[in-house]
Amino acid sequence: MNTFSNTSYQCYFDNAATTRVRDEVADKMVDVLKNNYGNPSSTHSYGRPSKSLIELSRKEIASHLNVSSSEIIFTSGGTEADNLILRSAARDLNIKHFISSKIEHHAVTHTLDELEKDYNVKVSFVKLEKNGDIDYDNLNELLSKSKDRCMVSLMHVNNEIGNMLDLKKVSKICNKYEALFHSDTVQSVGHYKMDLSKIKIDFIVASAHKFHGPKGVGFAYINKSCNLRPLIFGGMQERGYRAGTESVHNIVGMSEALNISMEKLDEEYKYISDLKKYFIKKLKTSIKNLKFNGCSGDIKESTYTLLNIQFPLEKSKAEMFLFKLDLLGIACSKGSACQSGSDAGSHVLNEVLDKDGLNKVSTRFSLSIYNTKEEIDRAVNEIVKLLD
Ligand SMILES: Cc1ncc(COP(=O)(O)O)c(C=O)c1O
Repeated sequence: MNTFSNTSYQCYFDNAATTRVRDEVADKMVDVLKNNYGNPSSTHSYGRPSKSLIELSRKEIASHLNVSSSEIIFTSGGTEADNLILRSAARDLNIKHFISSKIEHHAVTHTLDELEKDYNVKVSFVKLEKNGDIDYDNLNELLSKSKDRCMVSLMHVNNEIGNMLDLKKVSKICNKYEALFHSDTVQSVGHYKMDLSKIKIDFIVASAHKFHGPKGVGFAYINKSCNLRPLIFGGMQERGYRAGTESVHNIVGMSEALNISMEKLDEEYKYISDLKKYFIKKLKTSIKNLKFNGCSGDIKESTYTLLNIQFPLEKSKAEMFLFKLDLLGIACSKGSACQSGSDAGSHVLNEVLDKDGLNKVSTRFSLSIYNTKEEIDRAVNEIVKLLD
């Protein structure tokens, strides 16, 4: 057994939906809840320590990205940060043309739908390669033909199929056409090193619960050259960008989670990558005619935490398959977590799968440091029995 072993019967394979909070993070948050209840806007002896905790957290987060503290704005999570950036870009930065993809998270796609209605902006979607990767030539072409001020919004790691964007390449293309670049990095912050002093990206977003921090808190990185305006008005918290009393314990929890993730990154990257390799091998040797969606089956081309598996089972049996796995204590996702509970199929798989693939059961397994090889053995054994 490794040091990360989870000895309980339940096997949690839905880490792209959310992750378990690290004990050290929870302890720190409880300490803040108990001992730092002052309002950070209060100037007395109760408020000042809360304010200091927030500013220290901001500084720590900024240092991991190699940006300045003033470029980090705390939000309630990734969705709010995406909304803040995209909506303000249309309203305040005179962006008339957004170029995105059809496989972005709904925090981006649905926001762009609204912007079309509210601000009459044009939204174009870049073509995808067969494996779900962005067609970079097409991005270049779309930008070269556009006569308007453009913003490109493309996610770093796809939350359903694990494909990774080449941030440097997109940044260079955007620079060539003087387009602004926003990347939804919710699935990559805390999982990869990111030095924003080396790549020109104007905006990124993060969500603490994707890297073993608390839910309901995230941040937007807004490059200091971009003059956005707030979506939420009120007090002058977050330098007026985001009014409302700060969630001090959540912010402290987020920075602690990021500190630990970055400190242990190499070790944890190796541990989870080895698990993914083991999972792929085990699946390939145990189940015939199985496929991996997007690039997720290719360890070099996709994120190390996620596998999207297409089983040789008709789609009509999907609900029962997942239900049975759940009864066995194996938690995974039929697509993106944000879809669960709704009947809408995955908009990502709809874009990247052919007719045959769409008629099969696809399931996302996403890993963390709390998973083990024993859990993978158990999951594969149970899946083999269910497919029989
Ligand atoms: C890529 C991506 N963007 C945005 C979000 C939304 O983040 P939050 O849950 O913090 O609002 C998610 C969450 O699943 C995500 O995976």
